[in-house]
Amino acid sequence: MKNLQHLFDNNVAWAEKIKANDPGFFDRLSEQQTPDYLWIGCSDSRVPATQIVNLPPGEVFVHRNIANVVVHNDTNCLSVIQFAVEVLKVKHIIVCGHYGCGGVKAAVEDQDHGLINEWLAHIKEVKQKHLAELADLTADQKNNRMCELNVIEQVKHVSETAAVQNAWKNGNALSIHGWIYDISDGILHDLDATLPAN
Ligand code: CO
Repeated sequence: MKNLQHLFDNNVAWAEKIKANDPGFFDRLSEQQTPDYLWIGCSDSRVPATQIVNLPPGEVFVHRNIANVVVHNDTNCLSVIQFAVEVLKVKHIIVCGHYGCGGVKAAVEDQDHGLINEWLAHIKEVKQKHLAELADLTADQKNNRMCELNVIEQVKHVSETAAVQNAWKNGNALSIHGWIYDISDGILHDLDATLPAN
């Protein structure tokens, strides 16, 4: 299929369904977006941000990359955070990882993946920090725990960005959350890594 017609057909059916339920939906959305949430998640096709939390378009500002990593010199991710915090004034930033993350697994198993090695190095740093805790785990347990530890680490990285620091200095209500999604049952879990900690 040269032009992916089935995706355009899906799109028309989707838009018609929404309009049938709420005729003004797209008119309202075209005026502005006022999402309360910034979602920083993995690019994995099994972890689609808005569908998992069952929210319609307009509710979640989204940034996804391999293994939901927040790096301090990644202008792409930093720009998303800054725009979300300073312009959209989101109230919550959610870093959401998932069990069975291929990016985390690749970093943990230390294989050569070419260009992506540089990106995975950020996850290897997380592993280095927690070697003692990981030492006694089976391979599967280690991968799953690393998926959790990676989220907790990235929550800290988000908290250290200038945009978030300024928001807190100005007394803005802004929380950062660390969640993990289980692709085997579709359920989200809070890792209790919320900042600021109460
Ligand atoms: Co992943």
